[in-house]
Amino acid sequence: MSRLDSFIRRLEAQRSCLGDAARRTQKLNGVALELGLGNGRTFDHLREICAGREIYVFDRQVAAHPDCIPAPDRLFLGDFTATLNEARQRLGDGAAALIHVDLGSGDAAASIALAARLAPEIAALMTAGAVVISDQPIGHASLVALPLPEGVRPGRYFMAEKQA
Ligand SMILES: C[S@@+](CC[C@H](N)C(=O)[O-])C[C@H]1O[C@@H](n2cnc3c(N)ncnc32)[C@H](O)[C@@H]1O
Repeated sequence: MSRLDSFIRRLEAQRSCLGDAARRTQKLNGVALELGLGNGRTFDHLREICAGREIYVFDRQVAAHPDCIPAPDRLFLGDFTATLNEARQRLGDGAAALIHVDLGSGDAAASIALAARLAPEIAALMTAGAVVISDQPIGHASLVALPLPEGVRPGRYFMAEKQA
């Protein structure tokens, strides 16, 4: 498969998983968290499919398209390892109904290790029934893997639900 095909399939998987998670959590109270603003593509998509839900965004920098920059009071700026803890203080454990983690860099091993390091903070921020969608596996005892939407190859994207 060419790199172009692989890139397109990754974006299709991302969109399918985000849509599935938004539907699954529709009736759940809580905020949405976007880890990895990047150029703001998936933040913008979440704004469309999670209309009415507060969305908080995390990144070490703001380098997004000008139309996709969150309000200052919805932005946790800095390293995830510090800002997730800030979010737990400010929003409270169990505050999130949906979390999207899109932190991948060119270094696959470093991305997997970062996701593993963040997993306890991510799980703590999720309410029961909340869904985490991620570009890396998020392993935690309180999270159970969800089936992926049709057409998404296992390992291309990940979805898990927080248990009660
Ligand atoms: C793949 S990009 C996100 C793409 C974005 N979701 C989009 O659709 O445009 C990953 C982002 O994660 C951020 N990031 C990676 N590691 C981070 C860390 N340890 N702390 C804070 N931000 C980090 C990078 O700055 C980058 O903007």
